[in-house]
Amino acid sequence: MKKENEEMVVTPWEVSGKIDYDKLIEKFGTKRITQELRDRLAKHAGYMHTQLRRWIFFSHRDLDWWLDTYEKGEPVGLYTGRGPSGPVHLGHMLPWFFTKYMQDAFDADLYFQMTDDEKFLFYDDLTLDESVGYTYDNSLDLIAVGFDAEKTHIISDVNDIDHLYRYGLEVAKRVTCSTIKALFGLNDSDNIGMIFYPAIQAVPCFLQSVREDRKVAVMIPAAIDQDPYWRMTRDISEKLGFYKPAQIHAKFLPGLGAGGKMSASMPETAIFTIDPPEVAEKKIMGAFTGGQPTVREQREKGGNPGVCSVYAYYFFLFEEDDKKLQEIEQACKTGALVCGDCKARLAGIISRFLVDFQEKREKARDNLESFLIK
Ligand code: TYM
Repeated sequence: MKKENEEMVVTPWEVSGKIDYDKLIEKFGTKRITQELRDRLAKHAGYMHTQLRRWIFFSHRDLDWWLDTYEKGEPVGLYTGRGPSGPVHLGHMLPWFFTKYMQDAFDADLYFQMTDDEKFLFYDDLTLDESVGYTYDNSLDLIAVGFDAEKTHIISDVNDIDHLYRYGLEVAKRVTCSTIKALFGLNDSDNIGMIFYPAIQAVPCFLQSVREDRKVAVMIPAAIDQDPYWRMTRDISEKLGFYKPAQIHAKFLPGLGAGGKMSASMPETAIFTIDPPEVAEKKIMGAFTGGQPTVREQREKGGNPGVCSVYAYYFFLFEEDDKKLQEIEQACKTGALVCGDCKARLAGIISRFLVDFQEKREKARDNLESFLIK
């Protein structure tokens, strides 16, 4: 694992170092979300989502155009996805909560890609049966978030390739190996599947247009690590007769350790939706905080919520009330709140969240079939 002060790396497979989101906007050539754009989104939704209010969704490509298209009464759609290599953690769900908000606001269809092919190709020790198995297991999490069965279409790349292959070929023919190598940092010793795979991740950008036989403006809500795929796709979309897909980019939910995003490769610092509540509580009680080494010092000097993973969980997901969040921040800084109590409170909230979510996840088994692409 790279340390906080090491060079920032943000690719679809690695996020490390201290992440500077302003620099990422510059490096990737995206745009910052403005107050005006936030207000426009909120107007259609009827309220401003916490992830917009707190600038967790912070960057975009063509969000203004996508909203214009919707406001003109032309068709819009949503696309996002998951690489099913294991159980889902809270970081994966962060953009899904926001996607649900967008589905409700715009009454839009959502194409949701499960890249069981990608994960098989990229992980040495994952079998194809395992990654395809996770497709259906992870779908339960998606359904539990509350998406609309009529308007949500889950695609397993492996099992539903007939929906994707024709346009995958059209994309592949127009993208060179050197583009893929440069965009994704691949080299000659990587397997040939990895070189081809990005063509498959591009296809759901066009799938609704193909299926409805009209041009649909597609918006992709995801964390910013997936952006290289869209840079490639945007370059060839118009050549294929489709609109360029628009994007709205989220920051990363951190892990429970010191720095870094929540990642399945560090299970002790990630909270999985299938974690028994007591296991999640234990992880939280062991989390890295911005507190002082002793309670006495904390009372005297106060803590630093800016570097605290526990505070980050309140900020990103578990304290939606701005006033209460500010109270936590102040109480930490003044030393009125000590880390043990702050962690215990969060552990209680997350444990209740998991009990409720796991119930919804079990119920989702009955509806799974209705969410799969037809
Ligand atoms: P995957 O499975 O790595 O991630 C799934 C989604 O979760 C986001 N994400 C996070 N968001 C916030 N905080 C984190 N700590 C965090 N970790 C992951 C990712 O940005 C993603 O939105 N190749 C993709 C699958 C895919 C896809 C897509 C994703 C196919 N088509 C379209 C987004 C949009 C993948 O492996 O995602």
